[in-house]
Amino acid sequence: MKIAIGNDHAAPELKLAVKAHLEDMGYEVVDVGCAVGERCDYPDAAEAVCSRVVSGVCRFGILICGTGLGMSYAANKVNGIRAACCSETFSARLSREHNDANVLCFGARVVGEGTALDLVDAFVGTEFSGDERHRRRLDKIAAIESRN
Ligand code: RB5
Repeated sequence: MKIAIGNDHAAPELKLAVKAHLEDMGYEVVDVGCAVGERCDYPDAAEAVCSRVVSGVCRFGILICGTGLGMSYAANKVNGIRAACCSETFSARLSREHNDANVLCFGARVVGEGTALDLVDAFVGTEFSGDERHRRRLDKIAAIESRN
């Protein structure tokens, strides 16, 4: 399974730790983020990751900036993306189980490496429940995208 990962200049070191963790778990990681010492704008990384997710090239996306917020705002502008900005594992797990989130965002200035790896484990390790009530709500989100 392929996972796309992106970051801005606030998070290259944490990105490398997450990437190594995912590779240890057997995932193929497509890294579109900037390297240590480079500067880049988070919307560019968000679009590069999200385009790979909605096209089906990658199953999930992971986006890391300073807070995770800018990445989540940009990611959620892409039709078909449900990006969850999380700093604790309960939300990361429920973002998958209830919301069928396909992108996880977090902040390198908010969470340490241990929490970041726990967030990733909770996210990629949880299936969407598929319950009718959750599907109905996701359909309503898609309808909002269509109407606006
Ligand atoms: C970059 O300084 C910072 O604004 C960015 O990483 C992110 O936190 C934005 O939401």
